[in-house]
Amino acid sequence: MICAAMLAGGIGSRLKRDKPKQFVKINHKPILVHSVETFLNVKEFDKIIVSSPKEFINMTKDLMNNYFPQNDKIVVIEGGSTRNETILNSIQYMKDQNCEKDSILVTHDASRIFVSEKLIEESIKGSLEVGAASAVIPATDVIFESKKEGQLTDIPLRKYLFHAQTPQSFNIDNFLKIYEDLSEDEITLLDEAMMLFYLRGANVKLFNGDQGNFKITRPFDITLAETIFKK
Ligand code: CTP
Repeated sequence: MICAAMLAGGIGSRLKRDKPKQFVKINHKPILVHSVETFLNVKEFDKIIVSSPKEFINMTKDLMNNYFPQNDKIVVIEGGSTRNETILNSIQYMKDQNCEKDSILVTHDASRIFVSEKLIEESIKGSLEVGAASAVIPATDVIFESKKEGQLTDIPLRKYLFHAQTPQSFNIDNFLKIYEDLSEDEITLLDEAMMLFYLRGANVKLFNGDQGNFKITRPFDITLAETIFKK
């Protein structure tokens, strides 16, 4: 089984809107709809698992029914309290469907609305080859580390630094095996799925993402996205 986890289980606080950002319209269409549309064009998926915060489940279901009526590939589930918990809920959904061993989950931040089918295909291919894969783009700014407020504590060499993007894909049995082995402390460290593979030395294939595949996080990103559609 190959499924997509469309991550829209969070609220998106940095956008400073009165509703979760997945419902904010860009070019007259909600953010979530843009991303789901591209994923529907990829034929490999058995299901597209859309997550939602508990209080917005009905709103998310209505949105999916309005834009993709009677589409049985799309399911809406409840997100978790962290990004990784939302991913775990998606894995649980697949297990509940009795998916075969070594099934693949492709996770995607719903707010990366310019994702391409090519990136999704590459992500699937990478995880089938090595077990886990992530899109990345090389850092163009020098990145300062500051572990004490207002103070420079390290300057990692830029040539070794990359920004992680989604789609990120992995074998769900490998994910669960490592997850069960993690300590409570390690679990709190998990800010993103690839960290889990890194913590146990598992291979993660990095492939070229796209500058256009940015995450709509701050108000400026909305302006940028609208401008791209007007081009
Ligand atoms: N996410 C989720 N479940 C959560 C938290 C986050 O599914 N409990 C999803 C978000 O909906 C988003 C993606 O994970 O699509 C990336 O989340 P993150 O980078 O933490 O947040 P941002 O989208 O950048 O939003 P914020 O302004 O809150 O940082």
